[in-house]
Amino acid sequence: MSKRIAILGSTGSIGKNALRVIDALGSDYEVVALTAHNSVELLAEQVKRYKPSFAAITNPGAAASFADLVSGTSVKVLSGAESMVALACLDEVDIVLTAVVGAAGLPAVLAAAEKGKTLAIANKEPLVIAGELLMKTAKENNAAVLPIDSEHSAIFQSMQAGRSDEVRKIILTTSGGPFRGMRADQIADVSLEQALSHPVWNMGPKITVDSATMMNKALEIIEARWLFDVSVDDVEVLVHPESIVHSLVEFVDGSVLAQLGTPDMCLPIQYALTYPERVAGIAEHLQLAEMGKLTFEKPDFETFRSLQLAYQVAKTGGSASVVFNAANEAAVGYFLAGRIKFVNIVELIEDCLNKHEIVAALDLPALLEVDKWARKEVDRCLNRKVC
Ligand SMILES: NC(=O)c1ccc[n+]([C@@H]2O[C@H](COP(=O)([O-])OP(=O)(O)OC[C@H]3O[C@@H](n4cnc5c(N)ncnc54)[C@H](OP(=O)(O)O)[C@@H]3O)[C@@H](O)[C@H]2O)c1
Repeated sequence: MSKRIAILGSTGSIGKNALRVIDALGSDYEVVALTAHNSVELLAEQVKRYKPSFAAITNPGAAASFADLVSGTSVKVLSGAESMVALACLDEVDIVLTAVVGAAGLPAVLAAAEKGKTLAIANKEPLVIAGELLMKTAKENNAAVLPIDSEHSAIFQSMQAGRSDEVRKIILTTSGGPFRGMRADQIADVSLEQALSHPVWNMGPKITVDSATMMNKALEIIEARWLFDVSVDDVEVLVHPESIVHSLVEFVDGSVLAQLGTPDMCLPIQYALTYPERVAGIAEHLQLAEMGKLTFEKPDFETFRSLQLAYQVAKTGGSASVVFNAANEAAVGYFLAGRIKFVNIVELIEDCLNKHEIVAALDLPALLEVDKWARKEVDRCLNRKVC
């Protein structure tokens, strides 16, 4: 039976790779819905090529020009942030592949879980801010949650070798980003161009900056805690510059299982779409002899304070992770716009966390309220001091 897919964020780095994977998988995989925020031309091209029944532009200001571009097609056009929720809940959709960046994806991910859809999740921020609620909702509605993040896909694949109560710890690998080996004073003032030069992965701008601050790994620590229902103390980080070992699981008997592959997001995307099957795909195969050696080192928690913060935030619980994520999204936005220095990103996150009064139990409206507060607090911090 064919699998019918909605891709939320089809114009981004993950979204475009997902369409390449679907091209290669063939006619058993059908694109039913696509969304973008601003990229009207690319979304219109995708609509003409993949002929989905539905397409949505989440920025209402871009809706009219998109409607013009696809006026000769039969696609049904939706617009506004809530359009992603509508597409995620369509009866015609089996798999919701979430490739949106940031907390903006949360309402649609939750709605898909409520509807019992299979979730192929690249969009890690909803898991960070609402991991408990999302995993509970998915469980109650028999919605499978299949990670696309390469590290979490590796953990998910390695975990198939044992039971969850046989897992001793999870080891998340990281390339170390562009500033691996540098001290805090050496990276305080790095340029946007330097921060956007990732040594291994070619990704969207927000996650690329997150990789430079190591906030990406920090978010992934919390993502792993919820996806795999483990204590955050059982999640470790290991620097592995070659990005071949995508993550590891240590079992109680001391066996360590890992998933290896070329650094290519098509592989975890494909596994989430074909799971539990494996089929030949477009990712290049690994030639270990050509790699020569693989290296590993401890992370530098002094330089990359974001990693320390992730453990504190996860242990604090409640709304702390909402603030952690929202303050980062806002600060990265300002860094990308040239308004603040690299060093200010984590400073602003810490400022926000220090000012926040933790709220324990959160439903979606309460989560969104805290998210809004944190973004405003970043603005207030910026107005108070010159960054
Ligand atoms: N890229 C990777 O290799 C990678 C690896 C692992 C995990 N991830 C995760 O996957 C997610 C996507 O990353 P990416 O690198 O693909 O990002 P990206 O290239 O920036 O693409 C983001 C997508 O989301 C859409 N979008 C942006 N803002 C939106 C909003 N407010 N509401 C709805 N849609 C919005 C964009 O539309 P427009 O094109 O119209 O702006 C685009 O389609 C992130 O959560 C990231 O952490 C990415």
